[in-house]
Amino acid sequence: MNIIDGKAVSKAVRTRVAQETAALKEKGVTPGLAVIIVGEDPASQVYVRNKEKACEEVGFYSEKFALPESTSQEELNALVKELNARRDINGILCQLPLPKHLDDKEVINLINPIKDVDAFHPVNVGAIMIGDYNFLPCTPAGVMELIHAAGVEVSGKKAVVIGRSNIVGKPMAMLLLHENATVEITHSKTQNLSEITADADILVAAIGKAKFVTSDMVKDGAVVIDVGMNRDENGKLCGDVDFEAVKDKCAYITPVPGGVGPMTISMLMQNTLTAAKIQNGLK
Ligand code: GUN
Repeated sequence: MNIIDGKAVSKAVRTRVAQETAALKEKGVTPGLAVIIVGEDPASQVYVRNKEKACEEVGFYSEKFALPESTSQEELNALVKELNARRDINGILCQLPLPKHLDDKEVINLINPIKDVDAFHPVNVGAIMIGDYNFLPCTPAGVMELIHAAGVEVSGKKAVVIGRSNIVGKPMAMLLLHENATVEITHSKTQNLSEITADADILVAAIGKAKFVTSDMVKDGAVVIDVGMNRDENGKLCGDVDFEAVKDKCAYITPVPGGVGPMTISMLMQNTLTAAKIQNGLK
């Protein structure tokens, strides 16, 4: 069993982004990211703080818009429109989930697709489907980086994704398909799930249930990628995979924490750099 070190791979991506940013700055371009957060959700506040820190680390300009819980849809929409028009802002990210009275689809649809560094806008989702894209959503992109870093050959392999969210499961399946895996998407209504996962050469768990993937669900020598971020019965951070039970069965596994988690913000940095290049005619 080999543990894929997400911290190390994430650091390598950030170093590369920082180097490219330094070169871009010599041409007079500083990538700029706007991060919008509405309300007081503590988890979202931690994510946003980490995104700001990462921007500083790679040399980006970043601006945080912390709006009160009482913000109206019109006010939020007006901010997005203002950021769409700003030359110094290359990427716009609206931290989800939004408070209940706000419509995330409406906000996502308003972001100029060329500034949509989350790759949530339907134009970017469609581009991914076709395989002709500028941005990949951060979590699936991070998973592919980890698979590549481990030197795992994807072509011709059977890949199973557990979870079908728009942010992770669906685009994850598409990225694996682009690399010629034979992909199966499974979810809460899937029958005989264990039989399907036990046949997977590459298994990606993104269901949000603590230690859901048990040893009997994993094939000997499989590559197991854990996208989960849960708390176990003792309040300890854990993934969707029962790491201790599964680790000796697989060829490669990502830990939680220290696997997929550190990758997502690094991929956001990469997308923001790409956005800055495109918007300045440098790509
Ligand atoms: N909330 C949880 N994950 C994400 C993400 O990748 N992007 C945004 N904008 N919000 C999130």
